[in-house]
Amino acid sequence: MKKVYIETYGCQMNVADSEVVFSILEDAGWMRTSDIAAADAIFANTCSVRDNAEQRIHGRIGQFFLHKRSRGAIIGILGCMAERMKESLLEGGRVDIVAGPDCYRQLPQMLKDASEGRAGVAVELSRTETYAEIVPRRTDLNGVSAFISIMRGCNNVCSYCVVPYTRGAERSRDHRSIVREACRCAADGYREVTLLGQNVDSYNDGEVDFAGLLELVAEVSPDLRVRFSTSNPQDISDEVLYTMAAHPNICRHIHLPVQSGSDRILEKMRRRYTRDWYLARVAKIREVMPDCAITTDVIAGFCSETEEDHRSTLSLFEKVGFDAAFMFYYSERPGTLAARKYPDDVPLDVKTRRLEEIIALQNRLSLESNRRDLGRTFTVLVEGPSKKDPSQLCGRTPQNKMCVWTDCTHRAGDYVTVKVLDCSQATLLCEL
Ligand code: SAH
Ligand code: SF4
Ligand code: F3S
Repeated sequence: MKKVYIETYGCQMNVADSEVVFSILEDAGWMRTSDIAAADAIFANTCSVRDNAEQRIHGRIGQFFLHKRSRGAIIGILGCMAERMKESLLEGGRVDIVAGPDCYRQLPQMLKDASEGRAGVAVELSRTETYAEIVPRRTDLNGVSAFISIMRGCNNVCSYCVVPYTRGAERSRDHRSIVREACRCAADGYREVTLLGQNVDSYNDGEVDFAGLLELVAEVSPDLRVRFSTSNPQDISDEVLYTMAAHPNICRHIHLPVQSGSDRILEKMRRRYTRDWYLARVAKIREVMPDCAITTDVIAGFCSETEEDHRSTLSLFEKVGFDAAFMFYYSERPGTLAARKYPDDVPLDVKTRRLEEIIALQNRLSLESNRRDLGRTFTVLVEGPSKKDPSQLCGRTPQNKMCVWTDCTHRAGDYVTVKVLDCSQATLLCEL
């Protein structure tokens, strides 16, 4: 049997897609390997969201090529960078296959062609492809937590963002196939599913909206935790909050990317909410679920951002007191609205300094958030031994905070109750 190796970059959607690719290839007689040196085909499932994500892949292609030159391995680029760069990735003869996110069903044929010396490019975007009936070949190590992709693409055109160009138009997967997949996960022993989409709150398959879908998945089993990502502040409805509140197995965590705290910048980013709207959504979340964690994404140094705009972002962070954040500085992406319309005019040293200020602030906020949990108890889903100390177990609270505690009686997949004794900025140190 021929063996395929996949390295996955970027967001959780790519992790879910790699599992779909493994499934398609296994049906075509390929076997999965985690040993690159044993692979007949080497794939990178790639990300284009920032320039440094793409630079890393270019470096990896150079290393992959050594396997092609020395032993004839087939090299394939999948995912968002494949979609964005298309046949230009074939230049230089290092890559044999370029397949965009909607073309993975063509991979068995493309591999056959490549083994006969014909390179291939497949980058058409689809309005309908959701891989709905494909059962993903799960690749997570602990067998506890699974991703379920509920929609593909994105219909927003945030001016900085390449995703609508690499993933195409938004489409929702049929709710029946999603519920079937959640049931299968539960039957296979999974204890947690994360519903994935670029904008989950706009999920609608023509019959069921996101609140309805959440309810259906939550009712699969009380022992199956439900998470979801990502929520766009413009679309998250009260209905979704009430559905969360009504189901204890829907985790108390909302990832709500704000991007900036300045209305002027939000408008230029084409985010369709204001600072006040965002703060009102946060207030509503806390009114409905006082124990709900809120995390965010932010971009420092977007086109024309002033010190005053930057201070608005800092003050918004302070006001909300996020539990955690993913923080980036702006990276211009070719072809996006911002790249065409606005000069990338904040100097790199200013971008990095602003980013560092946001990170320093968030480090303090994360620590404060964890300190508020001292003395509290949480139900934690055990993920496995802690990486740092194998005599300890680790797992997450419903709020998605990582806990560690000493324990030799439980194992991955168990629910345990822990009490928080101490904390760092990243971890809650607990006892059983
Ligand atoms: N669909 C999600 C975001 C997906 S991209 C949403 O709308 O919130 C993940 C994050 O990458 C974004 O939230 C944003 O913070 C960041 N990002 C996207 N494009 C970027 C760019 N050009 N430069 C820097 N960060 C970017
Ligand atoms: Fe990008 Fe905006 Fe779509 Fe998120 S909602 S993927 S940031 S265009
Ligand atoms: Fe990256 Fe594509 Fe995800 S650009 S963040 S892998 S949707």
